[in-house]
Amino acid sequence: MSSNCAVILAAGQGTRMKSSKPKVLAEVLFKPMIDWVTDAAVNAGVEDICLVTGFKHEMIDEHFGGRFKTVEQAELLGTGHAIMQAKDFIKEHIPGNVLVLNGDAPLIPAETLKAAFDFHMAGNNAATVISAKVADPFGYGRIIRSRDGKLKKIVEEKEATQTEKIVNEVNSGAYWFSSSVLLESLEGIIEKHDKKNDKAIEYHLTDAVEVILEKGLNAVAYDASSPDIVLGANDRVQLQLLNDIARRNILKKHMLNGVSIPCADGVIISPDAKIKADTEILPGTIIKGKSVIGANCDIGPNSIIEDSVIGDNVSLNSVQCYSAEIKNGAHMGPFVRVRPGSVIGEGVKVGNFVEFKNSVIGDHTSVAHLTYIGDSDVGSGVNFGCGCATANYDGKSKARTRVGNNAFIGCDTCLVAPVQVGDNAYTAAGSVITEDVPDNALAIARSKESVKKDWVKKKKPYRWQK
Ligand code: UD1
Ligand code: CA
Repeated sequence: MSSNCAVILAAGQGTRMKSSKPKVLAEVLFKPMIDWVTDAAVNAGVEDICLVTGFKHEMIDEHFGGRFKTVEQAELLGTGHAIMQAKDFIKEHIPGNVLVLNGDAPLIPAETLKAAFDFHMAGNNAATVISAKVADPFGYGRIIRSRDGKLKKIVEEKEATQTEKIVNEVNSGAYWFSSSVLLESLEGIIEKHDKKNDKAIEYHLTDAVEVILEKGLNAVAYDASSPDIVLGANDRVQLQLLNDIARRNILKKHMLNGVSIPCADGVIISPDAKIKADTEILPGTIIKGKSVIGANCDIGPNSIIEDSVIGDNVSLNSVQCYSAEIKNGAHMGPFVRVRPGSVIGEGVKVGNFVEFKNSVIGDHTSVAHLTYIGDSDVGSGVNFGCGCATANYDGKSKARTRVGNNAFIGCDTCLVAPVQVGDNAYTAAGSVITEDVPDNALAIARSKESVKKDWVKKKKPYRWQK
């Protein structure tokens, strides 16, 4: 399908979202709707994509960072007008076919786009409209067929007659067009609008169907059978409905792949997450972005995993993990925060109230309680006592701490970076370590205890101590 291209309509503001962002950046399962749509196109084999942007287009440019072409639609004069802005792009793809998608309908699967393409090619169609039958067609363009079942036209809600309004087969807003035929139909779309005597200037892409049929070419509706694929969101109530449907579909996919989700309450999994079999996901667990989770893990309850890689046999209880890696057999929690750039080694044990930032922790190291490890390289087999901290920031810059293999960091040690503790070295409890500790050494950096015998007896009692 390499000669094919896609145009994605994404210029709308989505007034009813009451957002400062363009509507297509509204998120379903923490993924902007436009990303669902571009991913569907790419996964259907269409890499050459042009986005039609308008309202706050710079936000969409920033979001994609130049990954796709964009054209600006300065005035929003309808979906037909949006396509007109992409004329030059479409011209570059003759001969070939252009996939047109609505940027605000995220649940259209790549498989449907592929199947519709095969149908489009098999029928030698000039246009293939992807449609679906829905329970409540209100607001959608209705697919009007003639008695023999052939596609006649698409009628928008505003223009539909009473009998047309009853039709429950609707336009998904996704189409395959022959590139040249689509370009040749644009004049016709303007003429159709002018004939309607509609004061509002809104050029409907849907009118291309009639224009193409009038040319004696083939325009066909491809019934995709699943009603979900057409769903779009115009306000946040509809957005929640999309989230609900997408969430259930994704949980189901994982369960059928061998992931246990005994109670789905508060479990949200991104469409791009991968989870291996025999892992159990407990309530309140949110897995975001492109996270990968291994086999036989216990994740949750109440955990957040974002863009992270988790190995096999890992247990995370009330852990928040962002852009980090946790290797096989690590046990962490409750109440642990793993911040970006951290790599937690195999079999590491982490207890309550521990935070890691931009640190590498060696295999089988143990950090059992109340500890902060930032900008550090920690070896394997290290033991951190309770209440340790790396002082990695002097108010101006960050510095690194290195802890060698099998070191023992006593309770309440403060490691003032830059500093190194050697292999097998010890720090005494309560030490503030500012100088490097060699291998096999013990560092004590605290004032010596002095005991004053019978001091209490000699001291004058306080007034309240009779
Ligand atoms: C459109 C279809 C309708 C279909 C429905 C499916 C038309 C006329 N109607 O209606 O048949 O059932 O989608 O969801 O096409 N956009 C632009 N520029 C514009 C106008 C819209 O880029 O000038 C973009 C929007 O940002 C949106 C998409 O096109 O992503 C669809 O536009 P919208 O106004 O939501 O069309 P619908 O009324 O949903
Ligand atoms: Ca819409």
